[in-house]
Amino acid sequence: MTSSRATRTDTESQGAGSRSSAHLLSIADLDREEIEELLRLTDTFVEVGRRPIPKVPALRGRTVVMLFFEDSTRTRLSFETAAKRLSADTMSFSVSSSSLNKGESVRDTIETIEAMGIDAVVVRHKSSGVPAQIARWTSASVINAGDGWHQHPTQALLDAYTARSHLGSLEGRRIAIVGDIKHSRVARSNIEIFTSLGAQVTLVAPRTLLPSSTNSWPVDVTQDLDSVLPTVDICYLLRMQQERMTEALVPSLREYTASYGLTSARADRMAESAIIMHPGPMNRGVEIASEVADRPSAVITEQVANGVAVRSAVLFALLSAARQSSNSSPDQLISHEELISPEEPASQAESLVPEETAHVRNSQ
Ligand code: CP
Repeated sequence: MTSSRATRTDTESQGAGSRSSAHLLSIADLDREEIEELLRLTDTFVEVGRRPIPKVPALRGRTVVMLFFEDSTRTRLSFETAAKRLSADTMSFSVSSSSLNKGESVRDTIETIEAMGIDAVVVRHKSSGVPAQIARWTSASVINAGDGWHQHPTQALLDAYTARSHLGSLEGRRIAIVGDIKHSRVARSNIEIFTSLGAQVTLVAPRTLLPSSTNSWPVDVTQDLDSVLPTVDICYLLRMQQERMTEALVPSLREYTASYGLTSARADRMAESAIIMHPGPMNRGVEIASEVADRPSAVITEQVANGVAVRSAVLFALLSAARQSSNSSPDQLISHEELISPEEPASQAESLVPEETAHVRNSQ
């Protein structure tokens, strides 16, 4: 990403702003080297997260807005945590208590938020393409936190990071993505990142939970989970997204589980070194047996933990690139090492005091 193909939009040329911003809208916008670069940067933020005070000054003075039009636990909280660890200010937007309910448009909402002075917008929406549309309306960096069935790029990055931390290189690794592929932005993003990193992906789903055509996708497709499981390095399970289904696509959840659920008996047939992944939220007892979700080979909470470091890396790459853009003055050009070095404590005693508390005390 850096100034990378995390899509760079010249908003000035579109009459919507005055500077060029970098966005992360889709994994398809990143080539392999850019993915590798973000995963290397994630290593740095995993190390930052292990420090006694996991906070760096990299984005001090920057403002990141969380614009979630659809429910989220993991993505929203980990972006907020990541922004705070980078010392950015955060603004949270609650759709249910916003003027959208009084008929204000999304565009007017964006322009209103932008008028307050923002640097990045993290957007989740139930409709595909909304983050890309917002990127045309704002001069801030836009990060897609999940749009409809389309893309969830930071989920793909954290999944690739987690998978590599267990398996090393993904080159030649076999990955089964199982379940509701049709409605899954995670499936679409992860197929792109896993194959970009050299893995072989097999989709396992009933025909009714597959898109109308997968011919252009670089994957194999099967309905036979039992024959695939012993061969895979990763079994990646997807949630049955009942909120996106407008018709009955499986006879019943019980029948779905009988053919496609990762039961204890099925998990026992996987290789000892193989891992089980799930983006969450899980339907325990549907796509994954509760006992299987709690096995050591299930790395689901690790995926969540790595989400903070991956999202820190993405915010850092997008916003520090913008900071060091051509309109930065020389004294704003800070080295990578300085940006991620620990906060300089004002005194030994204050270094243990949260930053906000120290500020209140200093101003008294
Ligand atoms: N995996 C994921 O996007 O989870 P949330 O919906 O809780 O953010």
